[in-house]
Amino acid sequence: MGSKSSIVFPTFIFIFIVIAQAEVFDITKFGAKPDAEISKLPLNYHGSSMGFLFQALCDAWSAACSATTPSKLLIPSGTFCLNVVEFKGPCKAPITVKIDGTLKGPEDPAVIPKGVQWITFSYVSALTITDSKMFHVNVMSCKNVTFDNFHICAPSESPNTDGIHLGWSKQITIKNSVIQTGDDCISIGDGCEELHIEGVKCGPGHGISVGSLGKNSGEKPVIGVYVVNCTFNQTMNGVRIKTWPDSHQGEVADLHFENLCMNQVENPIIKPSLVKVHDIFIKNVTGTATLPAVVNLKCSTANNGCENVKISDINLTYEGKEGPAFQECCNVKPVYSGKMIPPACSTADE
Ligand SMILES: *[C@@H]1O[C@H](CO)[C@@H](O)[C@H](O)[C@H]1NC(C)=O
Ligand SMILES: *[C@@H]1O[C@H](CO)[C@@H](O)[C@H](O)[C@H]1NC(C)=O
Ligand SMILES: *[C@@H]1O[C@H](CO)[C@@H](O)[C@H](O)[C@H]1NC(C)=O
Ligand SMILES: *[C@@H]1O[C@H](CO)[C@@H](O)[C@H](O)[C@H]1NC(C)=O
Ligand SMILES: *[C@@H]1O[C@H](CO)[C@@H](O)[C@H](O)[C@H]1NC(C)=O
Repeated sequence: MGSKSSIVFPTFIFIFIVIAQAEVFDITKFGAKPDAEISKLPLNYHGSSMGFLFQALCDAWSAACSATTPSKLLIPSGTFCLNVVEFKGPCKAPITVKIDGTLKGPEDPAVIPKGVQWITFSYVSALTITDSKMFHVNVMSCKNVTFDNFHICAPSESPNTDGIHLGWSKQITIKNSVIQTGDDCISIGDGCEELHIEGVKCGPGHGISVGSLGKNSGEKPVIGVYVVNCTFNQTMNGVRIKTWPDSHQGEVADLHFENLCMNQVENPIIKPSLVKVHDIFIKNVTGTATLPAVVNLKCSTANNGCENVKISDINLTYEGKEGPAFQECCNVKPVYSGKMIPPACSTADE
């Protein structure tokens, strides 16, 4: 008995240590070189720096993804250039991607094929991306992914480049992050559930969008989106739901927009919609707008309009010449509470 327990005890300690330390996969150990080193190579190598990094990233990702204990993919300090890459799961254990360096997108965004994001994560669950400076990210068919302290900085004139695009994904958290881009800061495609967007600073850009939805038949609903404690600075929109005019059926429900601060936003809240939209909660949205229609709820006559919309504590001011500010409603009867600046839609508008 005594000798048996003395064997069991050290075995337990050993296992504990293995689990507690994530194995680190550093891309430079897989052959990636930062630009500074690449440029020291003879000229003929210089042009292939993207190829080096692409292969190194793929190799490091495969190694991390097949690890059976939690692992960390590390991009150390330095600047690394990269075209398009996809990190594909499923993986065997949780992964953290940590980017101490800078991943630089192509100088000419036209080299990224239309409809493709710069970096894509697909079929991955239990992924954390932390302290990263990136360009554009696509999250497809993923589950339990956290972006923490994530910084996206793309030129505001870059066309059709969403900061983070989410599709067919569940339990995604984006927090404490700054997103500056030419299109949507965050765009939420069909089939997304349980999204938490907290403490995100968005702008310049087009704001946070659900959609475009209703483009294709058989789209899955978007259910459960929390946008909380976010600020929008000089964005075209704050939060909006986008649908195609002659849209297919679809559903958007259980959206919460809470504690949002707008600084010179063109359209702080808009939802023009032909897709079934219900259970929308808007609470404590303050700040300034550059157009007078500060809350714009345009629902279609289809599906009884938008149902169960609750709005409370709005203080949005417009200082331009087209004033005064107003709220606009169509086929929706919101339930209002708290302070309401500008005043709620009158029943005549509904
Ligand atoms: C989410 O992923 C983390 C690791 O990133 C893991 O610890 C946690 O258990 C996962 N949660 C669920 C609900 O799968
Ligand atoms: C939002 O901010 C409030 C006040 O600072 C804080 O109490 C709350 O926990 C935050 N919520 C989220 C989801 O970050
Ligand atoms: C808003 O963005 C402008 C530039 O686009 C910047 O000068 C200003 O400091 C930002 N304001 C806040 C509150 O972040
Ligand atoms: C309303 O939101 C602002 C941020 O925009 C926050 O500072 C404030 O604490 C919130 N108020 C309440 C009552 O939660
Ligand atoms: C509304 O916000 C403005 C500043 O944007 C502030 O001066 C005013 O006191 C606020 N009104 C209320 C009722 O909170």
